[in-house]
Amino acid sequence: MLAITGATGHLGQATIQSLLLKVAPAEIVAVVRDLTKADGLRQQGVQVRHGDYNDFDSLVAAFQGVATVLLISTSEVEFAPRVQQHQNVIDAARQAGVPHLIYTSVLNPSRDSHFAASPSHAATEDYLRASGLAYTLFRDTLYLDLVPEFAGPDVLPSGKLYSAAGEGKVSYALRIEIAEALANVLTSTGHENQTYDIGPGPSYSARDIARTLSEVTGQPVEYVPITTDALAAGMRGQQVPEPFVNLMVGIVKAMEAGELESADPTFERLLGRKPTDLKTYLTTVYAK
Ligand SMILES: NC(=O)c1ccc[n+]([C@@H]2O[C@H](COP(=O)([O-])OP(=O)(O)OC[C@H]3O[C@@H](n4cnc5c(N)ncnc54)[C@H](OP(=O)(O)O)[C@@H]3O)[C@@H](O)[C@H]2O)c1
Repeated sequence: MLAITGATGHLGQATIQSLLLKVAPAEIVAVVRDLTKADGLRQQGVQVRHGDYNDFDSLVAAFQGVATVLLISTSEVEFAPRVQQHQNVIDAARQAGVPHLIYTSVLNPSRDSHFAASPSHAATEDYLRASGLAYTLFRDTLYLDLVPEFAGPDVLPSGKLYSAAGEGKVSYALRIEIAEALANVLTSTGHENQTYDIGPGPSYSARDIARTLSEVTGQPVEYVPITTDALAAGMRGQQVPEPFVNLMVGIVKAMEAGELESADPTFERLLGRKPTDLKTYLTTVYAK
């Protein structure tokens, strides 16, 4: 049996839908903290079990009889509780006798990263490698799905794309295709103690995104570089909470520093085809 944590989240849901094309629903264990969100999964025949990252015993119970756990990193943002939650899942998997755990990390995880989530990914990776479990590290890049959010709702009416990422380039990957690659790994062999950089080329800067938006929509979109101070001031002006302001400033600093730039063939290999590129994705979102 294959257990998917965070099964009611975006990546968890998408991974389970990909898995359902490959294995019987009864082989899939959806581990969820809120059972009321899992009716759809239950109706598809998936086993739904309660498991909260903050409740060790619930995780041990949820992992009984499981061969592989996919630990989808938590949506908690603070470093200490984030790492503790991941450690709870790893310890529970070990206690339940699960041989193999796959963890969704981030490209270039580092305790010195500008990107706020990166230090907790680095700490979790260290803990998992030392746990004695067979592990697979799925070091995800930023979701391509976030590009329209980064561009903002006014990008087309204004014809201006503001970014504080300078000329920094980012390797993006579509979340649903990361899910598909995860399902492929969950249902095939030879992934023990492997580290996969899910960071396909080409990488794109904010200037590239503006140019591609112009091509896709036929409307000129100008890239307007701004400072991180201007980004933060703009967000505060819209009453965005301070932790989210800091998170965004960290993300654009990481982008500018090239922390999320990659051209690794692993994702294409695991997916079994070329990943969706920026222009194709923006066409589905913006073209009329
Ligand atoms: N690569 C990227 O661009 C990117 C972007 C954003 C986030 N991420 C990371 O990747 C993860 C997966 O992405 P996503 O889009 O699927 O995020 P998501 O939709 O927010 O899913 C996160 C999942 O974690 C679950 N969760 C949170 N706290 C939990 C707890 N205490 N116990 C059990 N489950 C808990 C959530 O449960 P509920 O369904 O009950 O809320 C949800 O199912 C995120 O959590 C985050 O760590 C990556």
